[in-house]
Amino acid sequence: MGSNLDCVEVKIGNNQMKGENFMKHILVTGGAGFIGSNMTDELIKRGYKVTVIDNESTGLKENVNKKARYIKGDIRDNKVMNKVFNEKINVIFHIAGCASTIKSFHDPAADLSTNVSGTINIINYAIKYKVSRILYASSMTSYGIPDKLPIKETQSTRPISYYGITKYAAERYIMATGLRNDLPFKINVTAFRMFNVYGRRQSLENPYQGVVSIFIGNVLRNEPITIFGDGKQSRDFVHIRDVADAWISAIDNKNSFGEVFNLGSGIRVSINELVDVILKSFGKSRKNYKVIYKEERPGDQKHMQADISKAKKILNWRIKIPFYKGMKDTIEWAKQVYK
Ligand code: UD1
Repeated sequence: MGSNLDCVEVKIGNNQMKGENFMKHILVTGGAGFIGSNMTDELIKRGYKVTVIDNESTGLKENVNKKARYIKGDIRDNKVMNKVFNEKINVIFHIAGCASTIKSFHDPAADLSTNVSGTINIINYAIKYKVSRILYASSMTSYGIPDKLPIKETQSTRPISYYGITKYAAERYIMATGLRNDLPFKINVTAFRMFNVYGRRQSLENPYQGVVSIFIGNVLRNEPITIFGDGKQSRDFVHIRDVADAWISAIDNKNSFGEVFNLGSGIRVSINELVDVILKSFGKSRKNYKVIYKEERPGDQKHMQADISKAKKILNWRIKIPFYKGMKDTIEWAKQVYK
């Protein structure tokens, strides 16, 4: 026992094994990115041991919690993966992926390779090293154009972007792995179809990732805001800490095994409204700030809104950070970054 969390054994909920204290070791793929690094922070805060693997394609080393074991490399690179698994891993949070609809159209092969082949490699390693729990970062882009709003998990999945296709394909690989009866042990799987996740560390510079931080970055650099389409399209924005809560609460929840969950806030905000909220937070308005409208982009889903009743019921999950609060926190952080 020591003061360093890396080597402290702690009791967490039902993470106990036959009388001995047992601290689960979680592998977070993509743990230097926006979602993965926040997830890592929350896991460490709650006493888990974490290994992060990230190829730093969009992630940043400085995002990685100092208490995590960090391995730079690609999930498709077996040399790197062998290094990851030279310590016993109990649970995999598979978040690494090519996270851009637009990029998936520019380079479909790269999107396919990272999102699908990368996921298959994660599954192969889980089998090889007997990891019996995988949680996967799926996406609301799996749905495509919804039949009706809000969207339930049972709605049809007809992705309309290449990115949506690969995220959904990878989700099915994960779920089908959970059903395999030819393995010497069972792999319990859960997938989260995440809606528009936002919060601290979402890139303020990357034009291919997340509209909230794109617009905030625009204002901080005093650049015009570009709206693709008429701005009437809407999204369901969910704060990263609420997302982390849902994932962590699922780790040991048997009722979540073999299940897919929507993670959104259940509330829809239009892109025009989002622009107004952000401008207002900076003491600006459309009267004194340039907002440009451009043609709608391919694969754009018009309206998205999650039905979150399943996560509420099975994970006992509640939204703790409503939109106005999450936006305030994100903008405060972004201002610090640009100070
Ligand atoms: C986003 C993510 C996707 C993730 C999904 C679910 C991107 C590109 N997409 O999809 O990875 O799986 O959420 O969490 O990161 N927009 C503008 N101006 C801009 C940028 C965007 O008008 O400068 C519009 C887009 O055209 C779109 C909406 O804002 O209609 C939301 O865009 P964005 O957050 O980038 O992507 P999603 O397609 O919602």
